[in-house]
Amino acid sequence: MRFIRLLSVCLVASSISGCADFYYDVIGRGAWPHEDDSLYSRLGGESGVNTLVNGWLDTAAADPRIGTRFAGVDMAQFKAVLTQWLCVQAAGPCVYTGPGMIDAHTGLAISDTDFDAFIDDLKTNLNANRVPTDEQKELLALLAAKRGAVIAVEG
Ligand code: HEM
Repeated sequence: MRFIRLLSVCLVASSISGCADFYYDVIGRGAWPHEDDSLYSRLGGESGVNTLVNGWLDTAAADPRIGTRFAGVDMAQFKAVLTQWLCVQAAGPCVYTGPGMIDAHTGLAISDTDFDAFIDDLKTNLNANRVPTDEQKELLALLAAKRGAVIAVEG
């Protein structure tokens, strides 16, 4: 009876996240699924985005189409900066400390084909990490919007 009363109070006050967590625990579905509705949270938050970016850059560095682009690049640093960038783009709670997209790619003469290959490598990792279709589309749209800033910007 006490339990039913507590559950009712929680349902009435469902906007309070503590109650929502309790409700989810009670009905056996584990923790509240997302801290918020941001793409960042839906990608799995810090650990999800870290795993995604690490895998993405490992795949890109080993990709015969574009791997040589990353020769001599400090990949640990690149992973850290791209993780921050992606976090901010996906409305996560991060601060981006790296260069703007135009500055980062000026003089690298990146082509449309290079860009497509890089995005392909991301898709491989989105699928490997079982990221749902809606979140894939949302993230890919964010990146597609940067194509113009990344490609063929000669120094
Ligand atoms: C939307 C697509 C892309 C995003 C979001 C992106 C993001 C970034 C960021 C944030 C940096 C700065 C890294 C740092 O300061 O350490 C960077 C640098 C760089 N990017 Fe991209 N990039 C994209 C596409 C590409 C493509 C297609 C290539 C080549 C195939 C590429 C190659 C590089 C290289 C070589 C650097 C320099 C890394 C360094 O010298 O530290 N990027 N990119």
